[in-house]
Amino acid sequence: MLMDSIEDRYYSYCMSNNKPYFGKVMWALQGLPIRHAYMERLVEAQCRDRGGRPFHILEIGSWAGGSAITWAEAIKKFNKGKGQVVCIDPWKLYFDPTKCSDLPQDQQAVYREMAEALSSRKIFDLFLHNIRVSKHEDIILPFKGSSDNILPLFGDGRFDLVFVDGDHSYASVLKDLRGAGRIVCEGGLLCGDDLELQLSQLDGEYVQLHKERDYIADPKTKERFHPGVSLAVGEYFGEVSVWEGFWAMRKQGSGWHQVDFPRLPPDQVELPKHLTCQSPPELVKENYRGYNIVHYLDRHYALAQALGPVDLTKMEEKSLEKIQAAGFCVVGKSLEETECRIDQRLVPEEHPDKHLSKGVALMRQGRFGQAVPALLRAIEMKPHDPAIRNSLGIALYKLGNHAEAEQSFRAALREAPDNADAWVSLSNICCEQGRYTEAVEYLKEAASLDPRDAELITALGTLGLNLKDEEAIRRSLQCFAVTDPNHPLTRELREALGESPVATEGAV
Ligand SMILES: C[S@@+](CC[C@H](N)C(=O)[O-])C[C@H]1O[C@@H](n2cnc3c(N)ncnc32)[C@H](O)[C@@H]1O
Repeated sequence: MLMDSIEDRYYSYCMSNNKPYFGKVMWALQGLPIRHAYMERLVEAQCRDRGGRPFHILEIGSWAGGSAITWAEAIKKFNKGKGQVVCIDPWKLYFDPTKCSDLPQDQQAVYREMAEALSSRKIFDLFLHNIRVSKHEDIILPFKGSSDNILPLFGDGRFDLVFVDGDHSYASVLKDLRGAGRIVCEGGLLCGDDLELQLSQLDGEYVQLHKERDYIADPKTKERFHPGVSLAVGEYFGEVSVWEGFWAMRKQGSGWHQVDFPRLPPDQVELPKHLTCQSPPELVKENYRGYNIVHYLDRHYALAQALGPVDLTKMEEKSLEKIQAAGFCVVGKSLEETECRIDQRLVPEEHPDKHLSKGVALMRQGRFGQAVPALLRAIEMKPHDPAIRNSLGIALYKLGNHAEAEQSFRAALREAPDNADAWVSLSNICCEQGRYTEAVEYLKEAASLDPRDAELITALGTLGLNLKDEEAIRRSLQCFAVTDPNHPLTRELREALGESPVATEGAV
């Protein structure tokens, strides 16, 4: 699918990682989650003292399976898994998306997206996915078809609870209530969703006028409600028991009675876990180094406070990438990882050259002890750089640490055998330790790389004369012949070779 938003990515993630999905894609989560807490608690109350008898539920209208899973969880929790959840839903387009609401057309995306989900069959696939990954395939039984056709197939009093949440137009709700009332057992419950306002709270004429619409505003209170549900429930039962829009009635004798169940105090509202992983963005840390860290879906998002308020639920993946690239958003899997990434971002960018320059500057000031850590840091970042290793060797040498200095020069030469400075440095160490024959060999290497370095050629000639090393003397003389034929050392060099002044002139 096209990855437009964070939500789309999360939907794809759930589909390919065996996780239930009840987010905004296809409006998979329908209705208010708090209603599910009451649904569960009513099953708990009904299942008390059942003596092991199965508890059977029938649901009209299942969409992505949110309520079906709540019922299944409740049966497993409170009736040892004994019972079934029968789901009736055609999972086919059943409404005209342009005629559902009084909202302006541009605010009716929900109906267009639901229509698309039904037409493409994607919502049925999501239902099957959610049931499977929640591990309730064993007790959830989907019937693909309309309640009109399927309800008559069940015998009287067959179910302990029937939940009506199908087509919300007045005629359909009323039909469902009639069909469902018959199949609820004595003492059982008939309940449903989306009763925001009871008929008694509304202007009857206004409701009649809009009874085939899905969701409209009450002109008196401006509260939004489902007119078809309010009217059908009001006509069928009169006043019903209702908690946050979830309503229920008990079948007793020849009639229906309200259900005595208290409103839950906020600390006792327990939402089923398949709905909680879909919670809205939650601020978990405020002002962490200028970022607010928000937990949303499977990630933590650190949003720079400079951004002002950000709605992650609506953010497109492209916009997210942009603010990430600009450093205004940092994303991590956990709070710790996100904080760590922020910390890394805020450390000024490190560069090995910065440490090398610092080391060299300190060496120039004679502060060799302070130069070493800077050079070691540069080596950590650029371990194969011969210039850094050479500088470190010199600093160590100046500090009298000849063994480590030698190691450093040799490491520089392993990386770059054509580094004349390193050969000279190595030669100096050898001289310092009286290893002259070794030293002259290193100077020969250096001279072949840098024959114009007067200091080096002088050292080669001088050491050659001292050691009576003919090759060193000759090479020194050859170099001077090109760079400085009148250098004071040339006479001595020529004499040592027993040559006349003319013989070597001009030769390299
Ligand atoms: C509001 S949704 C149900 C939401 C679901 N109970 C939940 O809480 O997640 C309404 C559902 O009713 C279904 N529906 C529409 N007409 C129906 C009919 N005649 N019989 C059964 N279901 C129907 C729709 O396909 C849709 O899935």
